[in-house]
Amino acid sequence: MTREMAWDKLTAYGQEHLLRFYDDLDSEQQQALLEQIADLDVEYIHQLYQDLVEHRNIEIDDELSAMGSTTWSDVASEERQRLWESGLAAIGQGKVAAFLVAGGQGSRLGFEGPKGAYDIGLPSHKSLFQLQAERIRKIGLDAGFSIPWYIMTSPLNHGDTVRFFQKHDFFGLDPADIRFFPQGTLPSVDENGKILLAQRDRISANPDGSGGCFRAFKDAGLMDDLQERGIEYIFFYGVDNALVRVCDPYFIGFAIDQAKDIASKAVLKVHSGEKVGVYAYRNGKPSIIEYTELPEDLALAQDEQGRLVYGSANIVTHVFRTSFLNSALDKKTPYHVAHKAVEYVDEAGQLVKPLKPNAYKFEALYFDLFRYADDMAILNVSREEEFSPVKNFEGVDSKDTAREMFLNLCTSWVRNLDLEPAMPIEISPLLSIYGHDLDRTEVESRLKDTESGYLAP
Ligand code: UTP
Repeated sequence: MTREMAWDKLTAYGQEHLLRFYDDLDSEQQQALLEQIADLDVEYIHQLYQDLVEHRNIEIDDELSAMGSTTWSDVASEERQRLWESGLAAIGQGKVAAFLVAGGQGSRLGFEGPKGAYDIGLPSHKSLFQLQAERIRKIGLDAGFSIPWYIMTSPLNHGDTVRFFQKHDFFGLDPADIRFFPQGTLPSVDENGKILLAQRDRISANPDGSGGCFRAFKDAGLMDDLQERGIEYIFFYGVDNALVRVCDPYFIGFAIDQAKDIASKAVLKVHSGEKVGVYAYRNGKPSIIEYTELPEDLALAQDEQGRLVYGSANIVTHVFRTSFLNSALDKKTPYHVAHKAVEYVDEAGQLVKPLKPNAYKFEALYFDLFRYADDMAILNVSREEEFSPVKNFEGVDSKDTAREMFLNLCTSWVRNLDLEPAMPIEISPLLSIYGHDLDRTEVESRLKDTESGYLAP
């Protein structure tokens, strides 16, 4: 493509500023920029901006109906035991894999690096990745099988993610069982629909949303890997929940028992106005309803026990049947728009790192695929035990809240053994994930040895 061809292509959609620094670039950089412009679907980006930003006052007249759910605290202990055994047996037979979406940019956190490498300040200073890896390892050891782990990155954090795992020796897992694959990207636009430059010779390319995961998975040839390994259940989760019980046998057992295409964990909304997406049927199809889409009368509706009927909130923890993914993988899902802080090069050629949202990103969302499922089964779990997302640098849903919840949980396990620790306690997932398998004598002697409050295996 020549400069003139690029100019014509861009001016048709008011994007000629992408060539602003062209004359200052060396010939290699000019070539690289022209190649990006040749690959750019400028008409599509223009269309997305028009549909999702300019004309977004689209009426939502979907018919919503409630979805039933099971609440874990209502499940009897013999039943729990049965689910555990069934889930652990499936893991032991090699039927379960973990699937992590870690391609997001974590712009609210503002951490330079993959979010999974983030240290939430526990006494051990373990990263989110390490906490997850150790849970996978522990469950694998208990089940007698090394659980495969598929990790979606993005082109922006792929190298850093892989290097982080290498540096930490894959946290004791077999590297052959960990497969990294990058998701796709799309350019971001400013508030006037102008495509951003990430550098003077590089068009912005931001991850195209969690919904890009299945396509990226297939394109990386991993659907075949899944089939070859005989995986039947995929434990899908997001990177930022510090308490996520990866490949939780109870939950796998629940998913097997319910025999639906999807099983999902949820936490009950704290109050009817909480800004979270909830599970419900949309036009008869399984779905997640954003808080902005839920009419007030439905948000307030309660059942006989006083629980919110639309109260099961999504915590990005699901089990998908492989057969469902196979059939839904190629279905098209829409893009959504997100207003976020995106780095860019300004008119003077300076890199700007905004602290507040300045741009629109176009993102596909993985749960748009739910509408193709036969049905789904929801399990409400305890927020204190299972959900503490790290989203923000400080305040709500930050490393501070995650650390506090983590320590409170482990400390409560110690107290359940009638021991009174002198400080908040962190227990390695390799010792215990659930707290009920801790040995009192062992914990007591370790408590005497620890100065930091960390109980290592
Ligand atoms: P979030 O909705 O928290 O988005 O992602 P984010 O991009 O990571 O963070 P912010 O909004 O910029 O602060 C939920 C999960 O989906 C993954 C994230 O890594 C996280 O596990 N995700 C999100 C992707 O894998 N790819 C994406 O393009 C977006």
